[in-house]
Amino acid sequence: MGKNTRKRCKKFRTWAPGKVMLLGEHAVVYGYSCLSFAIDKGVTVTISKEESDRITSDVADTRFTIAARETFRHYFSQHSPVSISIKSDISGFGLGSSSAVTVAIVSAMMGIHGIPWSFDTIFEIAYQAVKSVQKNASGYDVATSLYGGMIEFNGETKKVKQLPVSTFPFLVGFTGYKADTSQLVEDVSQKRKANKEAVDTIFADISRLVDNGKKALLQKDWVSLGKYMNENQQLLEHLGVSTPVLDAIIKRVKESVFGVKIAGAGGGDCIIALIKKKEKKNTIKAMEESGAKNLPMTISPKGVHLI
Ligand code: PMV
Repeated sequence: MGKNTRKRCKKFRTWAPGKVMLLGEHAVVYGYSCLSFAIDKGVTVTISKEESDRITSDVADTRFTIAARETFRHYFSQHSPVSISIKSDISGFGLGSSSAVTVAIVSAMMGIHGIPWSFDTIFEIAYQAVKSVQKNASGYDVATSLYGGMIEFNGETKKVKQLPVSTFPFLVGFTGYKADTSQLVEDVSQKRKANKEAVDTIFADISRLVDNGKKALLQKDWVSLGKYMNENQQLLEHLGVSTPVLDAIIKRVKESVFGVKIAGAGGGDCIIALIKKKEKKNTIKAMEESGAKNLPMTISPKGVHLI
């Protein structure tokens, strides 16, 4: 669709990817860095100017949609009514549909109002919108959906470093259980209040794994990266965010992979395994026998863009 057509149609369509956390969840909420990547599955948002506001969405939770629309309006003092239509192929897995929806809407709202895109501005608005719903979010998922590819996200400065990693041997498995990220972050916060020194030591250890994991990833040193993932998993278990279901899946999958861990807040959602290519079939079998569904995906080199 050319620029002129877009203007005439007064319609903007954006696509934003979901994400997977490789290393560093929870610690990133306390200002440490994490490694995450965008996936080739995500959400498509179509926005047009209409007589009155309308939302049609196949994402059941519309809080992020409304937050994105209203935060944009407040930021730019633009209040014309819009129709927002959302199609998602990642809802309910913990693969970042909320942040992808937010990023896609803010970008499309900017487009339809003729405001040039700037990643800093999109991040600022989208992160503010996400935080209005989930106050303790680090913003790593917004950044991943925005930039695409593999990123290192600094939880304190919110700065993004794009890493030259277009692919690596991984599998993602869905536990069948949707996690409540806000609750899990709150649980960790309570645990830290009760035992600050121990929890801060865990975060510092996770941070070292992120630094070492980044080096291993860039060197394609899968043995080391797998070891760091396993160590990260142990620390997440100490934080109390794993569950018996996750533990059982991870124990079974671990037999055939370099490393395996929770891919996000814990409590359910997905696991990520760094696989041995020759063992791929066995790993998928182990996942499925232990109750996790293999979700085929690749890294998306692209973040949010017009389609
Ligand atoms: O459940 P997810 O994929 O949104 O991951 C949450 C990661 C946390 O570090 C626990 C929260 C955050 O906002 O960084």
